[in-house]
Amino acid sequence: MDSPPEIKSPELERPSASSNIFFEIIYSPVNLLLIVIIIVLVYKLFKSKFNKVAVESPELPKLRKDMTVAELRQYDGTQADGRVLVAVNGWIFDVTRGRRFYGPGGPYAAFGGKDASRGLATFSVTSSDKEYDDLSDLNSMEMESVKEWEAQFREKYDLVGRLLKPGEEPTSYSDEELEETDHSTSTPDEKKEK
Ligand code: HEM
Repeated sequence: MDSPPEIKSPELERPSASSNIFFEIIYSPVNLLLIVIIIVLVYKLFKSKFNKVAVESPELPKLRKDMTVAELRQYDGTQADGRVLVAVNGWIFDVTRGRRFYGPGGPYAAFGGKDASRGLATFSVTSSDKEYDDLSDLNSMEMESVKEWEAQFREKYDLVGRLLKPGEEPTSYSDEELEETDHSTSTPDEKKEK
């Protein structure tokens, strides 16, 4: 005759059961792996949130300045303030807001601190290291494309100034001065709207 199964009192079993469960979780390789994955995911989540705050929160003072290609080169987002500038069709824009595109590691980082006109016109994410690219060899369709990009940048980003040709003098901008005197292809009407 079978002896009845030994029944342990739940009160007596509970403390050792809970510590057993803890050790089972810790020592099971699958669970350990899951714990590591969870820790890594939580870390990544917080890290990216922290980075976003650090990158997006500081509002940089507005920059108003004409620059040479060499000066522009410093603003590729690697400086301490993280400012990123891009030139399109002779105009320099502050694209710091679009840092995730043009900043270090971004898909269009090659344009950061550069004259992006030729790359945009030819649909290639490369930038020339020429001292000044006058774009004179671009065909009319490519030049149209450069102008369209310029219009998009004007809509989205703050204007910083003109990209200076070698020997060209920079304009001195006062705080109130918002208009541009220049070699731009924008029509006078477009300028008034800004
Ligand atoms: C397979 C090729 C490509 C894909 C899938 C792609 C995708 C995208 C997407 C999804 C955006 C919008 C991002 C957003 O607003 O959140 C964007 C923006 C942009 N793309 Fe591309 N792209 C490609 C190729 C290129 C190339 C070759 C160029 C260079 C000529 C380029 C230049 C740009 C620029 C300048 C922006 C605007 C970023 C801004 O808003 O400042 N893209 N692209």
